[in-house]
Amino acid sequence: MSKQKTIPKITTHVLQEMKLKGEKIAMLTAYDYSLARILDDSGIDVILVGDSASNVMAGYKTTLPITLNEMIYHASSVMRAVTRAFVVVDLPFGTYQGNSKEALNSAIRIMKESGANAIKMEGGKEIIESIDRILSAGIPVMGHLGLTPQSIHKFGTYVVRATNEDEANKLIEDAHLLEKAGCFGIVLEKIPAELGEKVTKAIKIPTIGIGAGSKVDGQVLVLHDMLGITQKFSPRFLRRYHNLTEEIKGSVHSYIDDVKSVNFPNEREEY
Ligand code: KIV
Repeated sequence: MSKQKTIPKITTHVLQEMKLKGEKIAMLTAYDYSLARILDDSGIDVILVGDSASNVMAGYKTTLPITLNEMIYHASSVMRAVTRAFVVVDLPFGTYQGNSKEALNSAIRIMKESGANAIKMEGGKEIIESIDRILSAGIPVMGHLGLTPQSIHKFGTYVVRATNEDEANKLIEDAHLLEKAGCFGIVLEKIPAELGEKVTKAIKIPTIGIGAGSKVDGQVLVLHDMLGITQKFSPRFLRRYHNLTEEIKGSVHSYIDDVKSVNFPNEREEY
């Protein structure tokens, strides 16, 4: 049995202990039952039902259009597959910014209707009232700082964030704020590796990086990116572990050839 599988169910407590022991946390996205089952069976620690579903599942250019109902649909599908991994679900754009009551209602809907373990929200000081309210209802919250794709229209670009001193200081302040509020972890997206390390050392809760260097407490990637299903998106931080696009195309070409040449089905494949 692999080391990972000896832990029956990952919790926020387990993630905290992993940080203390210096054991890295492995996190990937999933949006459906079949892939979530493969990830869980493989021993992934955390599954993120990310609002990146808006891009990779629905084909939108940004994460903004995906709705709360759609996120609940994806999260419920994932939850039916998972027994061991800790499952975090993104609160989608427009369901928590600027209105803490609505934020709480959104978080409650995700937890009640999908059975997920936690929610994730983008931002620091600006959304702290919503975070406080959700945490006081007993819902675990993961923060997300650095590049926050739900604010893409404010920044206008997906370039590396917090490269100047002011932005770096604000990010560190926000990380402290999220820790103090009671968040169980923070995603750090596309920031200098040195800042990723600094934040990780400054706070006691785990940091999970995506383009934040190696000296954070764990890593997250979008599954479709690391498997090579998405093709055009290739930032420096992305390591492709497979080229599934080519593999799938190869299989589909073989299938088309077999159908056209009546090589499929053969005698053993018919009744
Ligand atoms: O939605 C998502 O997939 C994310 C990751 C990029 C961290 O938030």
